Amino acid sequence: MTDFGSVGAEYAAHSHSARGRLRHDLVARRLLAELPARPARILDVGCGNGEMTFRLAAAGHDVTGADPSARMLAEAARRLGADHSELADRVRLVEAGVEALPFDGERFDAVCCHGVLMYLDDPAEPVARLAGLVEPGGLLSILAKNRRSIGVREALRGDYATARRLIESGTDTSPGRLGLATRGDTAEALDRLAAGHGLTPLPWQGVRIFHDHLDDAWAPDPATYEAALELEWTASWRSPHRDIAHLVHTLARRPERGTRGPALPDPAG
Ligand SMILES: C[S@@+](CC[C@H](N)C(=O)[O-])C[C@H]1O[C@@H](n2cnc3c(N)ncnc32)[C@H](O)[C@@H]1O
Repeated sequence: MTDFGSVGAEYAAHSHSARGRLRHDLVARRLLAELPARPARILDVGCGNGEMTFRLAAAGHDVTGADPSARMLAEAARRLGADHSELADRVRLVEAGVEALPFDGERFDAVCCHGVLMYLDDPAEPVARLAGLVEPGGLLSILAKNRRSIGVREALRGDYATARRLIESGTDTSPGRLGLATRGDTAEALDRLAAGHGLTPLPWQGVRIFHDHLDDAWAPDPATYEAALELEWTASWRSPHRDIAHLVHTLARRPERGTRGPALPDPAG
């Protein structure tokens, strides 16, 4: 496993930049729209420094953040104590990776796994484990690197040779911003995996279409940031724009008890 703790400080800096915030704002907006108004039990797998965990808890939900990196989890705990102490009774932090989640028999109204699959070799087993923890009526929310956009960031940054090599090779892996190689998935493949475990896929969104190639020094004024966010939100649902987003946000819901599950999407589709 990648020791994410070694790049944790860099990730925290990115997370708080306008470019990082754009991602969190888009993902949180969709998630909060799909969650029930009542307090929901949410599991955030690979919670990192806790950004989404805290946002969901601040909206009134009870959130368990799990991460295998002791250093990332320590940073989440530090932030909880220092900046979000009012959320302490709604947040639980657990040191565990997706391979060994200690929640036998426990089910959640929503299971999130954001920015994690890109560090794992294969999404099938993790998605199976995550889907198995979703309560009837509950949601699975996955944010993954978009396999279809590999090479786009490099091209827009002017690194034409790398972009051409990545696009020509058809690879599913490219260097990420933190210096770690990261693997992409397609939204359709993630939807098929979720459907294979009885969940019904919901419309997926592309996250960071027009602003991914900027660096973390991008510092728009508040009005420009709002305009950028609204543009990204509008385009996030639509092809061809969403197809070249750096990330895909897929969601799937487990049918309520007694209702029919999804028909499996066409594997060739
Ligand atoms: C890019 S950060 C994302 C953090 C957070 N989910 C977010 O979206 O801001 C990736 C996180 O995945 C965690 N991670 C790495 N391998 C994992 C695994 N096998 N299971 C769960 N989390 C893992 C890392 O420790 C790190 O905290």
